[in-house]
Amino acid sequence: MHTGWLCANAHAKVNLTLDVGEPRPDGYHSLRTVYLQVAPCDHVSVCVTSVPGVRLKVQGNAPAGPDNLAFQAASLWLERTGFSAGVEIVLEKDLPMGAGLAGGSSDAAAVLILLSQALPDGALSPEMLAAELGSDVAFFVQGGCALGEGRGEILVPLPRPIAFPMVVASPGVGVSTAWAYAELDRCRNEGRVLPGRSTALLAEAVMTGRDWRPFINNDFESVILPAIPGIAAVKRTLLDCGAVAAMLCGSGDSVFGVFDTEEEADAAVHRLADAGCWCRRA
Ligand code: C5P
Repeated sequence: MHTGWLCANAHAKVNLTLDVGEPRPDGYHSLRTVYLQVAPCDHVSVCVTSVPGVRLKVQGNAPAGPDNLAFQAASLWLERTGFSAGVEIVLEKDLPMGAGLAGGSSDAAAVLILLSQALPDGALSPEMLAAELGSDVAFFVQGGCALGEGRGEILVPLPRPIAFPMVVASPGVGVSTAWAYAELDRCRNEGRVLPGRSTALLAEAVMTGRDWRPFINNDFESVILPAIPGIAAVKRTLLDCGAVAAMLCGSGDSVFGVFDTEEEADAAVHRLADAGCWCRRA
């Protein structure tokens, strides 16, 4: 058992593609997506103590109790390993909630990884518990770049894509994931929106080391951008600042932009921050 604090950065993800399939009998939609881990992050610290139970302190905007996925990750690790130890967690949040960056899932993955170091159990790994906590948690245990299928938890690692200057920005309006899927279904039932097929093309470009930017896609854009003008404005600003491509992250509310030059990307960060957005180089 490791005593003392262990720390990790819990990075955000963007979806370079997000092709949403049909609803499944369990109420979830099947997905095809290319995940990319990006630089913005929360800081997660974990300490094993002799006082049983999980205690969570949050600096920033996130629930500080059992609603938090990081709390649930620690509870699950203790339950499955059978250790009678307690766990203290400190989360220093930078990633906004409801932004499609999966910050909560990334925090949970970091807790699983740190606890597997602090309280190792030969029969159990973070990978084995990740998907139980949420669809994106499995990706963060692996990190890097990956093709995701199922609900996003069935992963095939991809090589690191060509790195272009990137910016991610959130207007802070938040989007309910359940609303986004329901709205997409409604528009599809009315024949207004067709499912995308960009994931295979983008994954192929990544695997062959080619420019992947022409293939970025997110099926939610066609329903979310018209419904939420603040998100559409962020995308427009990124393109005005010279982004070669810009796309919604997950079901929003953040948008990422990919640029040719560092100068353009830095200028976009300043302009979006001046407009009141949370905005980071990615
Ligand atoms: O993943 P999470 O529990 O946050 O999802 C909230 C809701 O979004 C689900 O209850 C479901 O209605 C919808 N959803 C979906 N397909 C997915 C992920 C979420 O339909 N792959």
